[in-house]
Amino acid sequence: MSAPPPIGVYLHWPYCARICPYCDFNVRRDRGQVEEQASLVRAMVADLENQARLTGPRTLVSVFLGGGTPSLMRPEWAAELVETARRLWTPAARLEVTLEANPTDAEAERFKAFAAAGVNRLSLGVQSLDDAELQFLGRNHDAGAARRAVALGHAAFPRLSVDLIYALPEQTPQLWGARLEAALAELAPEHVSAYQLGVEPGTAFHRAVGRGIWSPADPDRAADLYQLTQDRLGRSGFDAYEISNHARGEAARSRHNLVYGRGEDYAAAGPGAHARLTVEGVRHSGMGRRRPADYLRSVGESGSGFEALEALDARDTALERLILGLRTVEGAPLDELSRLPLNAGVLRGLSRRRLVQVRDGRLTATPRGRLVLDRLCAELAA
Ligand SMILES: C[S@@+](CC[C@H](N)C(=O)[O-])C[C@H]1O[C@@H](n2cnc3c(N)ncnc32)[C@H](O)[C@@H]1O
Ligand code: SF4
Repeated sequence: MSAPPPIGVYLHWPYCARICPYCDFNVRRDRGQVEEQASLVRAMVADLENQARLTGPRTLVSVFLGGGTPSLMRPEWAAELVETARRLWTPAARLEVTLEANPTDAEAERFKAFAAAGVNRLSLGVQSLDDAELQFLGRNHDAGAARRAVALGHAAFPRLSVDLIYALPEQTPQLWGARLEAALAELAPEHVSAYQLGVEPGTAFHRAVGRGIWSPADPDRAADLYQLTQDRLGRSGFDAYEISNHARGEAARSRHNLVYGRGEDYAAAGPGAHARLTVEGVRHSGMGRRRPADYLRSVGESGSGFEALEALDARDTALERLILGLRTVEGAPLDELSRLPLNAGVLRGLSRRRLVQVRDGRLTATPRGRLVLDRLCAELAA
């Protein structure tokens, strides 16, 4: 008998010690609201139980404790959430369990407790190894703390990824290239998520840029920095298996990222968490209520934290498959894109310009194509 289809689980922990000026995730200051947090864990368990009734049997391939700052949560709460996911679905032999962590939460005993809770992959928000850059980013740690956190992470977990942010104002390609190489040499991660600094509406950075205090990188510099990131990481043995994610070999690719890239289902619990669930053959989109109090009330009243669980039509499903698939080296199978009006002439034109490739029934974006992915998807789906 074949294994049931794969599913990932995303768990959103919204609390942070400090809110970073660039961040537009669904986050709250952690003010030690222990009762609310303990209730949230119970509600997330109930929410997952409700979603497991909808999905039926599945093979659990990834659990991702994201945020916010889930490394602030009590390890026993993480254990309860991981245990719940393992109980509700059938864990794959190589189940990946990731914890996002801020360097300030790195302590040997704490990391050991998270590992005992089932976490086998740490994703550390290093962002930069330069104190001035960390200060600009409003981080509550310096480069020394980030280095110590990475060392403790390597000791406690078999797999370690670091997040880095580039395209800071005035950051030249030379400077970023040197920073990136130093980070790879010093931190020895198996996986790097390299993000261009985004100035998102509603953030303190957006207000600062609006007041003319500083200017973000212009598109040409941002494109140069992106290209340099791909080249330097490639030369150091990291394959760019996803537009912002680089792994040292296939085994180091994040299964969590591949769930999105492959258009697989994921359950989601916690304030503002997004889910994709196939229920009786129809793909549904769910989004958790964003405020913890509303999320708790919703789970208390209906057993579900979703604001709505809506069926996606076949075209929306195919469009999402295209956009997320082309972010990865795996691309998307053409038969899953059949509901899009993919025009053979447009496809031929894009392949001639070496922006996409069709091989073995799959459409992929070339490295050149990934540089202009938004435009590419718009042309393909027009
Ligand atoms: C949601 S955060 C969680 C990690 C953890 N709270 C931390 O900050 O270390 C995940 C990652 O998203 C990235 N990120 C968040 N906002 C960003 C932005 N505006 N531009 C670029 N990267 C961003 C950061 O690299 C961050 O580590
Ligand atoms: S970047 Fe991380 S620590 Fe900073 S506010 Fe966002 S989630 Fe919280």
